[in-house]
Amino acid sequence: MSTEHLRGRFKKDIDKAAASYLASIPFDHRLYRQDIAGSIAHARMLARQGIISEKEAEAIIIGLVSIREDIEQGHLQFKLELEDIHMNIEARLIERIGDVGGKLHTARSRNDQVALDLRLFCKEAIVETIRRLRELESALLDVAEANRDVVMPGYTHLQRAQPVLLAHHLLAYFEMLERDILRFKDCLVRTDVLPLGSGALAGVPYPVDRTFLAQQLGFGQVSQNSLDAVSDRDFVIEYQAAASIAMMHLSRLGEEMVLWSSEEFGYVDINESFASASSIMPQKKNPDTAELARGKTGRVYGHLLGLLTTMKGLPLSYNRDLQEDKEGLFDTVDTLHSTLEVFVGMVKTARVNAERTRQAASGGYLLATDLADYLVRKGLPFRQAHATVGKLVSYAAEEKKDLSQLNLAEYRRFSDLFATDVLDITVDASVAARKVLGGTAPEQVEAQLARARDVVRGV
Ligand code: ARG
Repeated sequence: MSTEHLRGRFKKDIDKAAASYLASIPFDHRLYRQDIAGSIAHARMLARQGIISEKEAEAIIIGLVSIREDIEQGHLQFKLELEDIHMNIEARLIERIGDVGGKLHTARSRNDQVALDLRLFCKEAIVETIRRLRELESALLDVAEANRDVVMPGYTHLQRAQPVLLAHHLLAYFEMLERDILRFKDCLVRTDVLPLGSGALAGVPYPVDRTFLAQQLGFGQVSQNSLDAVSDRDFVIEYQAAASIAMMHLSRLGEEMVLWSSEEFGYVDINESFASASSIMPQKKNPDTAELARGKTGRVYGHLLGLLTTMKGLPLSYNRDLQEDKEGLFDTVDTLHSTLEVFVGMVKTARVNAERTRQAASGGYLLATDLADYLVRKGLPFRQAHATVGKLVSYAAEEKKDLSQLNLAEYRRFSDLFATDVLDITVDASVAARKVLGGTAPEQVEAQLARARDVVRGV
């Protein structure tokens, strides 16, 4: 079939370069399942409302199902001159079942059709995204539970700050992923709106049953303004915004894996199956998966900004600019999903070096805050305690000693409030003291682990 049926008033055929410029079939063929599902529901509704006959609907539906099979088996050659997935399927339908196929587009426009397809696509994507986020949560939780006693330095400014439990550190990522899941769930609420029935922009002059369509296609709501329905892409932007934040979290986790697996840190060993070799340096085991996740975060941000910019300044209602919504969305979904998949594997198979993390938490001056808190308990105002311990640390540094290597006499040079019990301040005591809700004390971390387990189990 040529493009005649599309060209209405035109006498001339479309310029070749213009045709390929306008075509979205190279990427929107990915929406074939959603497009066919939407068309089947639409045909059923048209028959139910007496707009077409039951027989006609049946022929259309049988035709659509066989086209879906053809596409799945790679038997359908998409045509560029048919522009997009909608016209490709419709043209094939008419070819296959004859003129009756031309009745499918009654009471519909590609504008409400493409909005429908994209919403169906996003709804499925969100469910899958949440499933993958949960899987990573579960992998992090497994590692946290298996290493519940492991202490490590907590950092600020990437300087060793105070000792924390490794499980506490990993559970921080659990919190981030949990917020991501909530964001995607929230985004689903606004995606779950049926646009079909909005026509090109003004609604359709047929007695369509939009509630029936919504039920058939599993939508919780029906759009309330046809102009908005054909031109709204907020749900795509929201998916991309949520995905950008999720990628930012994965990038941070990736960065920590890069740091921790370096010889300088040596906190974790990334399994070989998630590392790469160097083509020149035989000793190398590079954390490329984690690095690439950090890198790919950039393109996901780019897609978000791209669509925000595309949408900005568009007059109502549909404009062809909107066709630019798809490639960025598809790439965002694919990038987020593949990143989550490799992170699940990387996290599950990584080995923690508990000796190394304890050693890093034990040396140096990580207990300085605890010493200040000690003086506070003995009655000194915190500000003075802070200054006193500052001098003590400076002394120890000059002596090239860790705090644990100072004796009581040395402590007492800085304050006579120091007594023998100052020597009880250890890494484990420091961790145990932070019993506040959300703190790193073992009982708090146990409570976090239990809560996280419930979340993952869906309790
Ligand atoms: N391929 C188009 C898109 O993705 C479908 C809608 C076309 N509508 C139109 N009036 N040209 O947006």
